[in-house]
Parts: sequence; C-alpha cells; structure tokens
Amino acid sequence: MKTNPVHKAPPGPRDTEVQTELQRYGTVVSRPIALNHKARVASVESLNQILADTMTLRDMYKKHHWQVSGPDFYQLHLLFDKHYGEQAELVDSLAERVQTLGGVAVAMAPHVAEMTSITSPPRGREDVSTQLFRLLESHETIIDESRRAARAAADSGDDGTNDLLISDVIRTNEFQVWFISEQNTAAHPPEEGPEIVEELTSSGRNSTSR
Ligand SMILES: [Fe+2]
Repeated sequence: MKTNPVHKAPPGPRDTEVQTELQRYGTVVSRPIALNHKARVASVESLNQILADTMTLRDMYKKHHWQVSGPDFYQLHLLFDKHYGEQAELVDSLAERVQTLGGVAVAMAPHVAEMTSITSPPRGREDVSTQLFRLLESHETIIDESRRAARAAADSGDDGTNDLLISDVIRTNEFQVWFISEQNTAAHPPEEGPEIVEELTSSGRNSTSR
C-alpha cells in the first residue's frame, strides 16, 4: 500500500533541532566588529534576558488592551495598544542586536516563559488598578536590568549595546511609566495630595521633598 505524503507525520521537535540548527542557543560566533568574544558573550546574555522580559511586557500590554474594563475603557484600550507597538519595536531592536553580536536571540513563547523574570498574570481578566500595578512593576524590572547591562556594556567597550539600552530601551520604558503612573494616580488620588500642595505653597519651595 502506498503512503500518502500528506499523512506523513512531521519530524518531532527534537529531530528538527538536530537536523536544522545552524547555531545552538547560548553560543556566540565571531563578527569583525572590533569587540572581543568575552564582551559579546556578556552583552548577548544580558540582552536576551531583557529581550525575554520585553516580550513578556509587550504581550501583557496586548492582554490588557483586550481585557481592560471600566469607565476609562476606551482611553486605556488605546494607550495599552500604543505601548504594545512601542515595546514590539524594542523587541526587534534587542533581538537584532543579539544577532549582530553573533548570538542567538530567544524567540518562541515557551522559551521566553522559561526565562522571564516578570511574574505572569492569570489568564482571566483583572481590574484596572491591578493591570496598572503589573505594568509598572514590569517596567521597573526592565529599567533596572537595562541600567546595569548598559553600564557593563560601557565598561567592556560595547558602545552599540550601551546606546541601544539607554537611548531606546530605558527612555521608552521611563516614558511609558510616566503615562501609566499618571493613569494610576488618576484612578487612586493620593490622600496626602492636598497637604503637599499646601506645604509647597506656604514654604515657597519648588521641590517635592517631604
Ligand atoms: Fe486591537
């Protein structure tokens, strides 16, 4: 009996890896960019961690874009999708920087889930304040690890990675934190707000120190 090729079982994941992998994840090949192997390995490792966390934050924004509810539904629906798009651009820049340095960028969701340091939200819907809290916490994780990676890259002479992290990743995340923080403040005005205004007015200071 002839075997119909349409019904032929595809190779399993393990077979596919053995047969098709050109470069194993975690390895760094040489590139003529006047940067030593040790520096490129260190940058690739840091960038892949930031990449995994940025992909997680990107997807969290889309989740919130779909699942948001309440009186601010429409503006949050739009804001979350704008930030999703900006995070998606960062994902591409980070992944291409890894490849530029000779590494292998983490790409698929199961691998990202294994690596990310961001706490996964549940599958179900959450209220707006919880959504905003999760976003702020995730942004801070990424900003913190990006600052440390940027300093390490500067010390090792990897100016390209340093520039990407500072000019794009850190600044974009800080900017998005501003918008999410203000949204959070609007939803939950601080109880001490009026006292701060009074204190600044009476003392004539222009600082917010308490
Ligand atoms: Fe949409």
